Amino acid sequence: MTWVEDLHRRADEQLPDYVAEYFATAAGHGQCRREGTAAWEALRLRPSVLRDTSRVSTATTVLGTPVSFPVLVAPMAQQVAARPEGEVLTGRAVAGAGTVLGVSTNTGVTFADVAATGAPWWYQVYVMQDRSLTRLLVERAAAAGACALVLTVDTTALAPALPGVEPTEWPDTYRRARVVNLTEAERAAAGPHALRSAEDLTPDAIGWLRELTGLPVAVKGVLTARDARRCVDAGADAVIVSTHGGRRLGTSITSARALPEVVAEVGGEVEVHVDSGVREGSHVVAALAMGARAVHVGRPVMWGLAADGQAGVAAVLERLRADLVTTLRQAGVPDVAQLRPADVAHPEPAHPTGYPFAPSHP
Ligand code: LAC
Repeated sequence: MTWVEDLHRRADEQLPDYVAEYFATAAGHGQCRREGTAAWEALRLRPSVLRDTSRVSTATTVLGTPVSFPVLVAPMAQQVAARPEGEVLTGRAVAGAGTVLGVSTNTGVTFADVAATGAPWWYQVYVMQDRSLTRLLVERAAAAGACALVLTVDTTALAPALPGVEPTEWPDTYRRARVVNLTEAERAAAGPHALRSAEDLTPDAIGWLRELTGLPVAVKGVLTARDARRCVDAGADAVIVSTHGGRRLGTSITSARALPEVVAEVGGEVEVHVDSGVREGSHVVAALAMGARAVHVGRPVMWGLAADGQAGVAAVLERLRADLVTTLRQAGVPDVAQLRPADVAHPEPAHPTGYPFAPSHP
């Protein structure tokens, strides 16, 4: 059992079944979620020797924000279902670790409470069917101190929906997510579908968000060079290669497989970030070597929060940081900025059209 599997098991002991299931759920029959981690795991590092690694530096910046190591916390919905304080605890741990907190549109915590944690934070945007509500939320997030917007463009179907676990059917404490940063009157005025995610998004949403707030916009959920180009041409400041943790499309390619073509297309112009399935320091090193500016980690942080609260999140981040430092030393690279694509060996294709995934576990 890996450390994340053990953490997952301990988290699930604390959670109602429907919440545990919601956090773990994946699209299709979980192929993309399983293969996401397997694809990172299948990469190998090409270590260097005779390099001075007596000091290792992991510090960098992400969209202008300094971080002590390039592992960010992905925005995740319903953290108040893991612990009633939700992002307040996650944010304090993130502040202590010196990295960045992603805050979901579906947060159950007010922007003021997020800001009070002291963590630099990026607000994740689902453009809603009623765009005036999205406008209110992003303007409030910017006023409260969000450093960037993360526009999620892979609107998840979470299909097939799991009976009884839709968060809209959860007890009231959990349901405040998405609406906690709106007033009662704003909620009451919204039509029945107003809060649902828009399904008619086009790249002009990028410029619209930038104009509303003046904040950098990272577009999350990009898996092809062609889409990365469309985002950058529309003004994106970063793209985040992501399969939404395998929750979007069961038969999707993995983030590890998509990253090189996105970096080749837009890496010289904007920051490219990556998430989905990153679990170990070696995965982080491989992603950075392949051209990612940073990686984002989701479920392990949620499971740390559920299992042990703020200390649990802090432990997950510290484990990843320490593992990153050890791996850099073992690979003979003293600074994350020195990682290069040639530091990674990709698996040999099994046959001309195939991609060799490690066998998936049921
Ligand atoms: C998720 C959506 C809501 O739960 O972002 O993955």
